[in-house]
Amino acid sequence: MKKVFELKTLYTQIYGSSQHVLSTYDALLEIMQKAKQNRKPELIRMDQNQALWYFSQDNIGMTLYVDLFAKDLKNLVDKIAYFKDLGITYLHLMPLLKPRNGENDGGYAVEDYRQIDPRLGSLDDFINLLDTYRHEGIRVCIDYVVNHVAKEHEWAKGALAHDKEKQDYFIMYDTDEIPKLYNQTVPEVLPIKCPGNFTYYTEIEKYVFTSFSDFQWDLNFKNPKVFNGMVENLLYLANLGVNMIRLDAIPFMWKELNTTCRNLEPIHDLLRMFHLIKGEVCPSLALLGEAIVQPEEIVKYFGSEDQSECEIMYNANLMVDIYNAFATRDVRLLNIDTNRFQIPSQATWMNYVRCHDDIGWGFNEDAIHSFGFDPFAHKQFLIHFYDGEIEGSFSKGERYQYNPLNHDARTNGTLASLLGLQEAHETKESFKRIEALRRINLAHALILAYRGIPLIYSGDEIATLNDQSYLLDPAKNLEGRWVHRPIFDWKRSKLSQHMGTDEYEIYLNLKKMIELRKTLPLLDGQASQFALDLNTNHVYCLIRHRENQSFFAMYNFSEFHERINVDHLRQLVNGTHYTDLIQGRSFNLNNSTIELSPYEVIWCKKD
Ligand code: GLC
Repeated sequence: MKKVFELKTLYTQIYGSSQHVLSTYDALLEIMQKAKQNRKPELIRMDQNQALWYFSQDNIGMTLYVDLFAKDLKNLVDKIAYFKDLGITYLHLMPLLKPRNGENDGGYAVEDYRQIDPRLGSLDDFINLLDTYRHEGIRVCIDYVVNHVAKEHEWAKGALAHDKEKQDYFIMYDTDEIPKLYNQTVPEVLPIKCPGNFTYYTEIEKYVFTSFSDFQWDLNFKNPKVFNGMVENLLYLANLGVNMIRLDAIPFMWKELNTTCRNLEPIHDLLRMFHLIKGEVCPSLALLGEAIVQPEEIVKYFGSEDQSECEIMYNANLMVDIYNAFATRDVRLLNIDTNRFQIPSQATWMNYVRCHDDIGWGFNEDAIHSFGFDPFAHKQFLIHFYDGEIEGSFSKGERYQYNPLNHDARTNGTLASLLGLQEAHETKESFKRIEALRRINLAHALILAYRGIPLIYSGDEIATLNDQSYLLDPAKNLEGRWVHRPIFDWKRSKLSQHMGTDEYEIYLNLKKMIELRKTLPLLDGQASQFALDLNTNHVYCLIRHRENQSFFAMYNFSEFHERINVDHLRQLVNGTHYTDLIQGRSFNLNNSTIELSPYEVIWCKKD
C-alpha cells in the first residue's frame, strides 16, 4: 500500500496531476492489477520464496545469441547439457523479440514486444524454453529495449501515418531549429555510423529524435502513455516467466534542451517507478540496468538503500579496469575503483570481461591524473594498445567508431584475441600462448570472485578468436562489432575435452573455478569486498568478508614472478592459515611473503 502511494507521488511529480494524468494513472493501476491476476502460480511461488535469488554465489551467467549458438529456441532447449557441464545457471539471451526486417542493430530495433523473432521460433517455443530451464535451475534474462522502438513498431507506424496522438509518443519537430539546439549539447552515440541525433522523415515532414540510428526512434517518456505502454510490455514479458530484464540504454531515456541528454534526474524516477511496479506484481523479476557511462553515474542507477531502481548494474568500469591492468601491468586503477563506491545492500554487479558490444574506454580520470598521467593520452594508449599498434602489445583488437576530429575510438574483439592468443598463434611462439591462456584464466577468475554475478560471453569459454566472416554479409559488414559475434563453433567446443588444446586449458580451468565459487558463500552478491594495495602494483588483491569469515584472492597482472609481503593482509583477514583452492598450496600468513608466478591467480580460504 505504501508502495502504491509512493508510485502515485512519483507519477504525479513527473506528469502533474491534471485530470488526464490522473486517469492515465488509473489505467496504470489497471495494467498492474491485470498482470497480477495473470501471473502463473509457479511464478507466484518464486515471488514468495526466491525474490532475492540474484545474490546467490550459484549464479553463473552466460550471454549468447540464440541463432548463433543454437539456430533457434527449440534447439536451444536441447543445449541444457552444455550449460550444466560448465555450471551455467543463468542465461542472458540476446535480443529475441520481433525486430524490424533488415538492419536492426543486432535486434535492438524492436517492432513488437509481444512477439518472438520468427527466425528464432514462436512465443510457445519461448515459453516452453522458460519452463524447461526453470525446472533445470537455469534462469533467463532478456533484453528490454526501453529507450527506443523500431520505426516499424505500431506506435511509430501510427506517427508516420500522421496520427497526432502517436506522434506524441516520440520527440519530433517541424523545423530543424530545436534539433540544432539539441545538437549543440548532445554528443553523438555512433558518430560514424549515425551522425547527428535527429532524422528527417519526408513523409511527415518532421525531424525525429534518433539517438542510435535512423530506424530506432527514441520514446518520449514525458508522455505518461508511453510510460504505461512500456510498463505493460514489461509485465507481459515478466509473466512469460523471464527472471531478469535487461533495461537497455537507460541513460538516454529523458531529453532536455541545453543538456547532454544523458543520465538526467527524471530517469531515476522512471526507474524507481518500474521497481515499485515490479515489486507489486512480480517481485522475483530482477531489473538489470545497462548504462555505459561514467562510473559515478552508473552507481546512481542502483538507487538508494530504501529507494531501489535497478538491483543489478553492468559493471562496465570493471571491464575497462581489467584491460587497463593487463596493458599497463598496473592494478592501481582497479584498486581505487574497487574501493570507490558503497553500493546499496540490496544491489549487486553484473561482472564481465567481454560482451556483444565494443569496449568504450571510459575510466576514472581523476585516478589517472593522480598517477601523473594525462587522461587523454592514456586513453589513446589503451586504444592503440588494444588495436595492436603499440610495440609490445599482445592484442589483436580492432578499432571501432574512430573519430578523426578528436581521435576518439573504441575497441572490438574477443577475449582471446584481445588477451594475446591470436597473436601467439600468428607468431607461433609458445611462451606467448601460455601467457595468453593465463591472462584469459585470470580475467575469468576475477569476475568469478568480484561482488556480483559473473557473466561469461559465449565462445570465450572455448577461446574463440576474432572472426572476419561478417565482412561478407551485407547486413553486417558496416558494423565492426560482429567481429566478436561469430557463430558458435560446436566442432571447436569438442576440443575442450582434448588435453593440450587451448579450448581444454580455458574450459577446464573455468569449469573448475565455477565449481569452487559455488562452494563459497563468501562470494555471494552481498558479501563485502575491498582491494588491498600491496608492495607491488602488478598484483591485485581482493578481500571478501562476511561476519567473521574472510576470503582473499590475488591476481598477478604481469609476466614477472612476484613476491608479496603479507604483513598488512594478515591484519585484515581472519586467521593465518589459508589454502589456495585453485592449486592447493597452503599459506601461513605469519611467514611474510607469498610468491606468484606470471599471471598466476590464487583463491584463498581459511583452513
Ligand atoms: C545497448 C546495446 C547495444 C545497442 C544499443 C542500442 O547499448 O548493448 O548493442 O546498440 O543499446 O539499443
